[in-house]
Amino acid sequence: MRSLFHKSLVFVIIAGFLNSCAGDRDRNYQYFPDMYRPVPYEPYGAYDIFANQQEAKLPVDGTIPRGWMPYDYEDTPEGRADAKANLKNPLPYTEENLTKGKALYTVYCAVCHGDKGDGQGTLVEREKILGVPSYDDPGRSITEGSVYHAMYYGLNNMGSYAVQTSIKERWQIDHYVMSLKDKLEGNPERSFQTNTVTQENSDNLNPAEPAEDLSEKDQTQSEE
Ligand code: HEC
Repeated sequence: MRSLFHKSLVFVIIAGFLNSCAGDRDRNYQYFPDMYRPVPYEPYGAYDIFANQQEAKLPVDGTIPRGWMPYDYEDTPEGRADAKANLKNPLPYTEENLTKGKALYTVYCAVCHGDKGDGQGTLVEREKILGVPSYDDPGRSITEGSVYHAMYYGLNNMGSYAVQTSIKERWQIDHYVMSLKDKLEGNPERSFQTNTVTQENSDNLNPAEPAEDLSEKDQTQSEE
């Protein structure tokens, strides 16, 4: 037993000695070269076998990223009017969607629009921004479609929320904004629907991320 210990000690010393002899300027011996030189092509490598030597390919024309769907209404007055009249919220009006919408609204919108949606957010009270409307402004008579459109493209002093929020999140916020509008106008509260998303609607909503859990996502949200 003891001699085995001695033998291995000698081996370790020799190995350490050999190792320390490598010159500063030369590469040391590679024990497992495939750990340094990958067998497959490097993602951004240049190889003769590819056109332009370029390993990384452009996506096929018309490719859309996962979790993203093209938005058909244009950022023009006509597009806005069209969305206002025709675009509908594909999410059912459930307690869950409303609760999530409220949480997101508080994060993204309340600083300007106020917790009640009356246009009296902190920034307005401190006179940092002007012209924030109340959601019951009769001149605007906002609809599900116009709210979504405003979030997607932004409107004058209001920025776009297309990057910070997913399609589903925007529709959740939309439900909450419409509920604030109802409250401001003194309308009766809308009753909740059962949680059934029709196939057609859910396709429009999130092509590749079906039942994503918002609470989990929230933690990673800040870096997204
Ligand atoms: C930086 C302040 C600010 C924030 C944050 C903000 N808004 Fe606005 N919002 C405005 C201003 C200012 C206007 C008026 C724009 C105009 O008509 O010139 C406006 C207008 C609107 C309108 C009316 C659009 C129309 O068609 O007339 C809606 C709906 C709206 N915002 C919803 C939201 C929602 C939902 C959020 C959160 C995702 C949000 N806003 C975040 C400042 C803000």
